[in-house]
Amino acid sequence: MSILVTGGAGYIGSHTVVELLEKGEELVIVDNFVNSKPEVLDKLRKITNKDFKFYEVDLLDEENLEKVFQENDIESVIHFAGLKAVGESVQKPIEYYHNNITGTLVLLKLMKKYNCKRIVFSSSATVYGDPEIVPITEKCKVGNTTNPYGTSKLFIERILQDVCFSDKEFSVALLRYFNPIGAHKSGLLGEDPNDIPNNLMPYILGVAKGKYEILNVFGNDYPTKDGTGVRDYIHVVDLAKGHLKALDKIRKEAGTQIYNLGTGNGYSVLELVETFKRVNNIDVKYRITDRRPGDIAVCYADPSKAKQELGWVAEYGVEEMCKDSWNFAVNN
Ligand code: NAD
Ligand code: UFG
Repeated sequence: MSILVTGGAGYIGSHTVVELLEKGEELVIVDNFVNSKPEVLDKLRKITNKDFKFYEVDLLDEENLEKVFQENDIESVIHFAGLKAVGESVQKPIEYYHNNITGTLVLLKLMKKYNCKRIVFSSSATVYGDPEIVPITEKCKVGNTTNPYGTSKLFIERILQDVCFSDKEFSVALLRYFNPIGAHKSGLLGEDPNDIPNNLMPYILGVAKGKYEILNVFGNDYPTKDGTGVRDYIHVVDLAKGHLKALDKIRKEAGTQIYNLGTGNGYSVLELVETFKRVNNIDVKYRITDRRPGDIAVCYADPSKAKQELGWVAEYGVEEMCKDSWNFAVNN
């Protein structure tokens, strides 16, 4: 019996694969490398000294994805594969909806055909839109997403809930991630986007390495402590561990479970930049620019449901996140 990890060569997927292999799980990974590199697979073997099966397959390619189900006894799926660049999704809505939603539908069709009834899904705090209150609990209203990427997550959450409703043996965990940063302690795995990064930490790393000249801080007129946007940054290894806890839960219980995976702490852009500079003893030049369209002021989690029901809490603080991100950047 194996766990199928879609998007397992990606940033969060690869860190989760390490945790799963270290726990002794049998894995089958599927990725098309649209936003990752094949070298990651060797690094996973090197870190864990364990092996797994890998298929270079696009989720949209039903015929080849079916072979994965034919050749393996898949008991659960952890579904990371998706396109995730918010700005790009506004330019390319059809590609985003097709890849993320159709990809999930193809996967679900095959899961049904091969009687696989458990899935952990990578959702996002973006489904809350501009939150009415912070910290955000799972009871907060979802919707009013501001871009096709976020809307694809919202729709997939709904599709998975409908599947659960139709089949009482089906179990789903919707994990709403806040802002993952940081990297594996080995320095071998981390966030390594194929394009110019949209997200804050990969951009800070680019400036610190001299690849980009200056960081644009998008707005300092938000109603926050220093005017810059506040987010709940979470170490990717903590996030990865949350998936194992969620999997344990859905192995025991049918139905839909929803969890925020965050730390519960909000840091501003400038706080993150200053922490990065201090702990790594390196300068990061920045300038204040206009707000980025679609951004919200403040977003951080109430993670108490995950603590109570899964026994999961984020352990690493923001200093560790900044150190580990930099350790990865200098090693790659
Ligand atoms: P990532 O781009 O590093 O990983 C996604 C992986 O999926 C990549 O390896 C990519 O090649 C693969 N992929 C994409 N489309 C595919 C397809 N059609 N078939 C096969 N493989 C495909 O991204 P990540 O940061 O690791 O994110 C993983 C998941 O978590 C995504 O679904 C993302 O939307 C979600 N998420 C990420 C964040 C974040 O800030 N990183 C926040 C919330 C949610
Ligand atoms: N920011 C800058 N300059 C940059 C990049 C970002 O100032 O070059 C600021 C943003 O304005 C925001 C903060 O840094 O205030 C964080 O921005 P990110 O782009 O890193 O992250 P977001 O909160 O916008 O979105 C991320 C993911 C989404 C996910 C969401 C969940 O990109 O996929 O977190 O909270 F849905």
